[in-house]
Amino acid sequence: MDRQNLILIGFMGAGKTSVGEQLAAHRHRTLIDTDRMIEDITGRTVAEIFQQQGEAAFRRLEGMVLKELAAKAQGEIVSVGGGLPLWEDNKQLLKALGKVIYLRVRPETVIRRLQGDRTRPLLQGNDVEEKVERLMTFRGPVYESLADCVIDADEKTVMQIGQQIEREMKRDEEELL
Ligand code: S3P
Repeated sequence: MDRQNLILIGFMGAGKTSVGEQLAAHRHRTLIDTDRMIEDITGRTVAEIFQQQGEAAFRRLEGMVLKELAAKAQGEIVSVGGGLPLWEDNKQLLKALGKVIYLRVRPETVIRRLQGDRTRPLLQGNDVEEKVERLMTFRGPVYESLADCVIDADEKTVMQIGQQIEREMKRDEEELL
């Protein structure tokens, strides 16, 4: 069932939230962001949840909010945390939720954009380059396998990416007519 939700997936720093906000504004909607949902529910930041309860607890919360969305989201723009699409249950739910757009970026783009970032627990400490490379090697094919549409986002502005997605959506709608 296609409920015309648009879901942005991709690695940390790919621009899911910025692009999602742009798309949502264009449609007079508010972006639904799974990290923000979790922070609102728990009253804690993602970093605090990782630190105080561990990654597994955060992943359970992700599964919970995704189920909630799958039960009721319609016509929404949704951006999901970079790790959410990796779990089997989540994959099914994402596919059922709507059109999945993968914002693909190269490791060097992530490293440049997230330099000095303290909000992503998985990219703290030493060897950030190696962490990004390792996670991306594993995650890239998963994101690709889920995507209805892949957008190379390294050299593009948020506006350009938003417009490209709008064009894709329009093309899809025309094909349905
Ligand atoms: C994570 C990505 C983050 C956040 C958490 C874990 C990941 O979201 O959910 O830090 O595993 O890739 P963004 O992709 O929005 O940075």
